[in-house]
Amino acid sequence: MEATIVSDTTKHYPVLLKEIISVISPQHGGTFIDCTFGQGGYVKEILKCKDTKVIGLDRDKDSQKIADKVYNEFPDRFLFKNLKFSKLNNLKLTNENIKGIIFDLGYSFTQMKDPKKGLSFNYTGKLNMQLGHNNFSASDVINKLDEKNLYKIFKYFGDEKEAKFISKNIVKERDLKEINTEDLVKIIENTKRKKNFRVHSATKVFQALRIFVNEEISELIFGLINSAKILKKDGILAVVSFHSLEDKIIKYFFKNLTESKSFSRYEPKAEQKKFFFEMPIKKPIVPSEKELKDNPSSRSAKLRYIVKKENIYEIETDIIDQFHELLEIENLSFKL
Ligand SMILES: C[S@@+](CC[C@H](N)C(=O)[O-])C[C@H]1O[C@@H](n2cnc3c(N)ncnc32)[C@H](O)[C@@H]1O
Repeated sequence: MEATIVSDTTKHYPVLLKEIISVISPQHGGTFIDCTFGQGGYVKEILKCKDTKVIGLDRDKDSQKIADKVYNEFPDRFLFKNLKFSKLNNLKLTNENIKGIIFDLGYSFTQMKDPKKGLSFNYTGKLNMQLGHNNFSASDVINKLDEKNLYKIFKYFGDEKEAKFISKNIVKERDLKEINTEDLVKIIENTKRKKNFRVHSATKVFQALRIFVNEEISELIFGLINSAKILKKDGILAVVSFHSLEDKIIKYFFKNLTESKSFSRYEPKAEQKKFFFEMPIKKPIVPSEKELKDNPSSRSAKLRYIVKKENIYEIETDIIDQFHELLEIENLSFKL
C-alpha cells in the first residue's frame, strides 16, 4: 500500500521515477498534472526540464509546505492545489494543452509514520486514517458501523479471510469501551486462527479501513475518468499502483478505452468500435533490480499508461458498472 517509501535511512525514494519520466518525456516541454504531489519527487524532476509547467494536487494539507518551497523556486511554472484528484474537473482545464497526467497512489512514508494520521498499526492512540477532505474517521467506522457492513469492508477491501469473526469481536468489544488503534490490533491478533509470521495480522484490516475512510475506490475511478477527459491529443495518462485492487481497476479502465470486447463467433459481428486511446505496452512496468535493492518497499509497484489519440472530451466507459459493488460498499458511509 505504501507508495513512496524509504529505506531504514528514512531517505525519500519516489518510486519508478526514471520510468515515469521516460513515459511522459518532459524534456520536450508542456503542461503536466501530478495528481499525487506528496513530497514533490516527480514534480521536481519534471521542473528540471525548462519548458515545462506543472500543476500538483494533494488532498493532504501537509503537502503545502513542500509545495511552497517548489513554488518559491519556480513561481511561473508551478501551481499547487490542496484538492482530491476526483475533483480534477474543478480546475476547469479543458482549454489547456495537458501533455501528461500522473498518479502515484497510496501514501508516503512520512504520512505512514505520522501518529496524528493514525495510518499504521505500529502507533497507539485514536484511530483516524483521514488523509484530508474526509467526512469521517476510522474510529467512526470501527465504533459505529454495524457488524455486517464491517465484514463487507474487511472482506472486499482487504481480502481478509477472517473478516466475519473479526467484525463480530469488534462489535462485542465496543459495547465495553471505545476501540482505539491498539485495541483493534489486539482484537485482530486474538481473533486470527491462522497466523502468518511474515505479514502482521492487522495488515489487511488496516488496508481495508484506509481504503474505506479515504474512499479510494471512487477517488481512483473518478480521477481516471476525469483525467482521460481533459488530456489532449498525444497526452499520456500514467498510474503507479501498489495493490491488486487498484491495479484491477486501472487495468480494466485502460483496456476498456483501448480494446474491443471479444465477441462469440456465433454472434453477428458488432460494428467495429473506434478507440481514442492506445496502450503501447500491455504489461505493467515494474521496478528494476537496482530500485528493489535500494528501496525494497517498491516491490509491489506497477506502472501502466495509455496515450490519447484524438482531441475529444466525452469518453465511453462502463467502469462504474463494472465496479458498482465496490462503489456501493464505499457508499455505506452514509450510515455513519
Ligand atoms: C505515494 S505519495 C506520492 C509521492 C510523490 N510521487 C513523490 O514523489 O513525492 C501519494 C500522495 O498522494 C496523495 N493522495 C492520495 N489519495 C489522493 C487523492 N484522492 N487526491 C489527492 N491526493 C491524494 C497522498 O496524500 C500522498 O501525499
